Amino acid sequence: MGVDDGGEAVAGRVVDVGSNEEERRVEAALRPRRLADFPGQHRVRDQLGLVLEAARRRGSPPDHVLLSGPPGLGKTTLALIVAAEMEQPIRITSGPAIQHAGDLAAVLSSLVEGEVLFLDEIHRMSRPAEEMLYLAMEDFRVDVIVGKGPGATAIPLELPPFTVVGATTRAGLLPAPLRDRFGFTGHLDYYATRDLVTILTRNAELLGIEADVPGIEEIASRSRGTPRIANRLLRRVRDWAQVHGDARVDDAAAHAALKLFDVDELGLDRLDRAVLEALCTRFGGGPVGLSTLAVAVGEEPDTVETVAEPYLVREGFMVRTPRGRAASPAAWRHLGLSAPRDAATFAPGAAGGGRLADGQDLLPLETDETAGADDGADR
Ligand SMILES: Nc1ncnc2c1ncn2[C@@H]1O[C@H](COP(=O)(O)OP(=O)(O)OP(=O)(O)O)[C@@H](O)[C@H]1O
Ligand SMILES: [Mg+2]
Repeated sequence: MGVDDGGEAVAGRVVDVGSNEEERRVEAALRPRRLADFPGQHRVRDQLGLVLEAARRRGSPPDHVLLSGPPGLGKTTLALIVAAEMEQPIRITSGPAIQHAGDLAAVLSSLVEGEVLFLDEIHRMSRPAEEMLYLAMEDFRVDVIVGKGPGATAIPLELPPFTVVGATTRAGLLPAPLRDRFGFTGHLDYYATRDLVTILTRNAELLGIEADVPGIEEIASRSRGTPRIANRLLRRVRDWAQVHGDARVDDAAAHAALKLFDVDELGLDRLDRAVLEALCTRFGGGPVGLSTLAVAVGEEPDTVETVAEPYLVREGFMVRTPRGRAASPAAWRHLGLSAPRDAATFAPGAAGGGRLADGQDLLPLETDETAGADDGADR
């Protein structure tokens, strides 16, 4: 996030889903190392467990694994677990680091048998590299091009069997042929609060933080279903308790610290609330264009769209319509306001869209499949 695309409300946002250098170090220390220690995501965990166990019994590397889902939910953690469970080395690289097919050829040709190749942000790989990867994943072969122009020849190079673990926040952007070459796809979803409680309890112990159940529960319920945010809020509450309290993470410390950091009971922060407030009080609930809304909260449209909107939409506070963004009745309620009678209403549970009071269709929520498509309607 650049300097000028984020105002004060965004810089260093405590509920940001991204992570910085320092945080990645802390995260590394907190990652569960085995599948059995990985709370939440029960379906993915059980399915992946089966795939790995079967491969172990066959004595061959498991199928290629694709992990998709929003940031901070454990894709990297699971990739490392795959290697640990198979007792194999892991090579870590990412889509943006592979600009040329040659970069990928160099990595592939140095893999040892059974090694796990973790390709983070796999949707950002270049097209030629992607094509090389299909072949390598299917036939365990790369064609190394020797020479240039009409005299160039492709020399096939056999590779030992290995396992690709790909991670992506945008599965919809992966070309179908690449997606099809993954034998197993696990889609990670937001965590239930009780799973975050399990994660936080373990992490508090690892970090030597004294915490009680109400304190942990309070943090978990404000963490937007995201372990990365939960871990960060835990550390901020710990800070507060060390400075103002008796160093104990309890209910009072959680309330006071999260108030200080402007994270409300539902995990909304200042920017989220500013957006809702502008929507409701200045634009009568909308619909209003994204750029108009952004100006009203003093942010770039891109910041509002990528930083605040996904969570507000997911929680049903805001809806996207062809004419712009609109507040839902839940948004008015959350701000303690009463919605005007003609405010946007829509069928509850209509995750795929719905209908506004004036008969206007709502756009479906952004999913991996639609994420890449720019609706462009109200920019
Ligand atoms: N199920 C889990 N149990 C315990 N900790 C978890 C779990 N899932 C994630 N975490 C913790 O959350 C943090 C972020 O997880 P991770 O880096 O694996 O997310 P990610 O999906 O790779 O995110 P990104 O898309 O940003 O790369 C790590 O500190 C990790 O330890
Ligand atoms: Mg990751």
